[in-house]
Amino acid sequence: MHRIVLPDIKNLQEIDVYLANQGYYGARLAFQKSPDDIIEIVKKSGLRGRGGAAFLTGLKWSFMPKVTSKPKYLCVNGDESEPGSFKDRQIFEFNPHQLIEGILITCYAIGAQTAYIYIRGEYHKWIKPVQKAIDEAYNNGFIGSRMKETFGTQFSCDIFIHKGAGAYICGEESSLMNSIEGQRAYPRVKPPFPAQNGLWGNPTTINNVETITNVPPIIKNGSEWFSSIGEPKHPGTLLFGVSGHVNKPGVYELPTGTLLTDIIEKYAGGVINAKRIKCIIPGGTSMPPLKGDSIEGLKMDAESLRAAGSAIGTGGIIVMDEDTDLVKVLARMTKFYYHESCGQCTPCREGTGWMLKILKRILDGKGTKSDLDLLISIANNIDGNTVCALGEAAAWPVKFTIARFRDEFENRVNESIQIPVNNKVHSMRKTKNPIDNIEIR
Ligand SMILES: Cc1cc2nc3c(=O)[nH]c(=O)nc-3n(C[C@H](O)[C@H](O)[C@H](O)COP(=O)(O)O)c2cc1C
Ligand code: SF4
Repeated sequence: MHRIVLPDIKNLQEIDVYLANQGYYGARLAFQKSPDDIIEIVKKSGLRGRGGAAFLTGLKWSFMPKVTSKPKYLCVNGDESEPGSFKDRQIFEFNPHQLIEGILITCYAIGAQTAYIYIRGEYHKWIKPVQKAIDEAYNNGFIGSRMKETFGTQFSCDIFIHKGAGAYICGEESSLMNSIEGQRAYPRVKPPFPAQNGLWGNPTTINNVETITNVPPIIKNGSEWFSSIGEPKHPGTLLFGVSGHVNKPGVYELPTGTLLTDIIEKYAGGVINAKRIKCIIPGGTSMPPLKGDSIEGLKMDAESLRAAGSAIGTGGIIVMDEDTDLVKVLARMTKFYYHESCGQCTPCREGTGWMLKILKRILDGKGTKSDLDLLISIANNIDGNTVCALGEAAAWPVKFTIARFRDEFENRVNESIQIPVNNKVHSMRKTKNPIDNIEIR
């Protein structure tokens, strides 16, 4: 079995163990090639971002300007605040040197001399091992000015941890940059995109922790090796974080395209008390939920999930058994997005609160059937009308949970009072199917 980002090697977080296992050899190889060659290898490997949108990593790197007088930056996104996602912290704890090596190679490829690893504030426990690994790498001449002697190259770069204060919105790439700049973490309007106008107005690439950690093995083993693992259009492995009603919740590194049922049964130990699955969220709570009876034969990769009406997101799988109260679940998820909305744009700021109020009304037994249409109408008005994708993250669970589990919601509302949905023309307008156009950037 392939384990690329979390190899089964004891104490790999220790620099001596990492070095004894070809540690920093990928960087050595990379520095003997040109930056363009590295971008080409990563492009050919088919590596796609692990932060949610599954965007092609090599292509993203190629957007960075080749000739510029400005400094370039790499931001490594370790905010990991999407409910149901807890994979990047495994890398922080068990394989931080491979992340650092990936950062060195990425910086070399895009021409950046400074990298920031953005880690959410609540991750105190995981900030420590990453800082320890950075310090060890500096002491051994793998980061900083001594790189020139260590690797015999003209290239050098520095790596800093930037600790967030603990807000979901800081994971959105443009607010992450504002946060590093010391500003309020409001997402920026795009375009311009970070490769043109990023940190302090300079060219910047933002990648997820798991994405970057895949880079050293790709350089060591070649793009063909990587692209032959898992599904051809979304190759490699994914760290699947499984939680909810399973016997063995945890993070499992498996090839893309692994059957969802296998992940649950073979790895996560099956559903507690062998109950039926009512609902399953395949990639963190912002991804559309699937019905438990629709997952037979479903492969876990970007294309297969898109075809099934959801998305791979962060690979955070939440399993809910037949006894789960989905109205309560949806209300709880909506509360999270309402709380985390930065408030910059009206549909998200107001709409998340309205959805929460209506869901609470339904939970209190005071909801009506028209509340369900009202919820969908509000979600439609958020979807596609906001500065950043937190809007969709809040709207999709509401739209898709009600659409796919309508009976359950109808059983909880009162038939007798019918309040017509106002502004029908606008609110019920046909929107593009968001599943065709998933871009969580
Ligand atoms: C509200 C919001 C929160 C996000 N949180 C994260 C996060 O915690 N980690 C992450 O890697 N990407 C997160 N993203 C996606 C990033 O904006 C960005 O697409 C990603 O870091 C790019 O890395 P990748 O190409 O390697 O996937 C978030 C996006 C949104 C809209
Ligand atoms: S969608 Fe929400 S979180 Fe994103 S910018 Fe608008 S108000 Fe802020």
